[in-house]
Amino acid sequence: MEFKIDTFEQYQSIYQYSVAQPEQFWAQIANEFLWKKKWDKVLDWNFQEPTIKWFDGAQLNITENCLDRHLATKANQPAIIWEPNNPAEQHRTLTYQELYEQVCRFSHVLQRNGVKKGDRVCIYLPMVPELAIAVLACARIGAIHSVVFGGFSAQSIADRIIDAACAFVITADGGYRGNKEIPLKSVIDDALMQCKTVQKVIVLNRSNTPVSMIKGRDVWWEEEIKMVEDLKLKDFPAVTMEAEDELFILYTSGSTGKPKGVVHTCAGYMVYTGYTFATVFQYQPKEVFFCTADIGWITGHSYIVYGPLSQGATSVVFEGIPTYPDAGRFWDVVAKHHVNILYTAPTAIRSLMQFGDEFIDGKDLSSLRVLGSVGEPINEEAWHWYHQKIGKSNCPIVDTWWQTETGGMLISPIAGVTPLKPAHATFPLPGVQPILVDENGAEIFGNNVSGNLCIKFPWPGMLRTTYGDHERCRQNYFSTYPNLYFTGDGCLRDESGNYRITGRVDDVMNVSGHRIGTAEVENAINAHTGVIESAVVGYPHDIKGQGIYAYVICEHDFINDELMRKDISQTVARIIGAIAKPDKIQFVKGLPKTRSGKIMRRILRKIAEGELSNLGDTSTLLDPDVVASIADARIN
Ligand code: WT7
Repeated sequence: MEFKIDTFEQYQSIYQYSVAQPEQFWAQIANEFLWKKKWDKVLDWNFQEPTIKWFDGAQLNITENCLDRHLATKANQPAIIWEPNNPAEQHRTLTYQELYEQVCRFSHVLQRNGVKKGDRVCIYLPMVPELAIAVLACARIGAIHSVVFGGFSAQSIADRIIDAACAFVITADGGYRGNKEIPLKSVIDDALMQCKTVQKVIVLNRSNTPVSMIKGRDVWWEEEIKMVEDLKLKDFPAVTMEAEDELFILYTSGSTGKPKGVVHTCAGYMVYTGYTFATVFQYQPKEVFFCTADIGWITGHSYIVYGPLSQGATSVVFEGIPTYPDAGRFWDVVAKHHVNILYTAPTAIRSLMQFGDEFIDGKDLSSLRVLGSVGEPINEEAWHWYHQKIGKSNCPIVDTWWQTETGGMLISPIAGVTPLKPAHATFPLPGVQPILVDENGAEIFGNNVSGNLCIKFPWPGMLRTTYGDHERCRQNYFSTYPNLYFTGDGCLRDESGNYRITGRVDDVMNVSGHRIGTAEVENAINAHTGVIESAVVGYPHDIKGQGIYAYVICEHDFINDELMRKDISQTVARIIGAIAKPDKIQFVKGLPKTRSGKIMRRILRKIAEGELSNLGDTSTLLDPDVVASIADARIN
């Protein structure tokens, strides 16, 4: 990779160059990729509309970068190592040659089922290699994938399918997570009752779960592949994509009730994920990279599939969870596959910490060279535990800050290069220009300061729009502060210029590294017939980072609080998914509202946090007494 960074001084000078000459910088990075045609213009942008075009005029297919270009030298190197949920089941290795062949075959399947360039394809699969194959086959044919995490409910899937008008769905009969079996196809069947746009459903057999197949609509993955093989269809020429053609949509929560379809495009996303993967982890040829995220989230898109594969890396795809069959599973996977780079989330680290050393003792973790953290602020205790117990004080931890919208990491140490500071994402990567602003949008200069984190210049991996609603994209990210991309995060900059992201400043919660909007949960709770109104806030949670605290006003008194709580939780699980179930539900008679009817979340947050002595000014409330009664009955 051009601009190899070996020392912090090199980082500093490359960073300076990337800010002074961004177009030259990114053109040099982009030159390392395979293009069908090079660009006419590196960058064209304004943050008002916004319009962001990277590498305009270029033509490419990202899968030629992830597959074809490695065949000459890496055909027999593992591209994917798949570790199943059940350690007794055989793991699978797909070399670059095999992955290429399978992606080509499945591209034929897609084409024979009517999928064309530009069509939207919803993917709802467990963490099996076929998930990566489906994603890559969509990209190869030019279809826009919309992967939905396997933990979302039928209703959430339906909302996403309808929003993107998906005509195709790829799913499996069932999936395994720990000791649970998830009936994916049956969830899809429920979702599709409301989705009139879907013509075809391709169903993978993962679990031999009996399913109903709808005539004319549902086909089996395996049977379709068999037909392609019988026809001796092999290579599938990668469809030519324009630089700014859409690559995928990924839904994420915001401060309104409705998740947004974040849109990423082909060229910029490819360059950015490839560059940041190679740079931050300092990936060396033949190393085994293990990102524990699910491909259903952006971390999996960027750093299980596209980033590692575009760099010819070996990427582990793990189907299971950190605690199955016991809390040593990650370390077993590291030892078994000689993992060199481990990329996981603080919530997983905190959960495993609790189980004690016995699950680490005797596990061979000597292959580890770099550790990564992503998804939420990592507390110092977890940082040190990760550093000492897992990294044996020998592995740098890269605390990578980024978002679904940013496509890839923006602020992060570079492994072995950047001096580390626990719980700090440290410095911006080359090409990234963060600034802190106050509420009025005035830039906060200097060090030892805090403010709202914005980015003032485009980077290739940034979102281009929110699907079907460009105005929403402008409103959400580009209107709070003129000419800046607003991240929604609060941030400190220490005396040496290290950045520390402190968490969301908007109505978005981060529960176990998953983004959930308070309004979404409120809407789901309010859907329960017995509920009049609710207010939801996040509160500090030892393992999850944040927990969900719900204040609920019910229609009338009921006999059993616990039953009602269960009922409400069930409703939330049914509407959003189990990940959004409230941790605490407090029944209240009223909510603290201003005279204009706005709920004062600040006060509810304080109560949830247990900071009762410091509730701030309540004089503007319609009914100040309500605060005391809520505080008195607070759930600990
Ligand atoms: C939000 C983005 C990044 C992919 C996974 C989550 C928080 C993310 C860090 C970090 C502190 C972090 C931010 C951000 N976040 N990484 N290293 N330190 N906070 O993606 O669901 O789009 O959530 O996660 O609050 O805005 P996401």
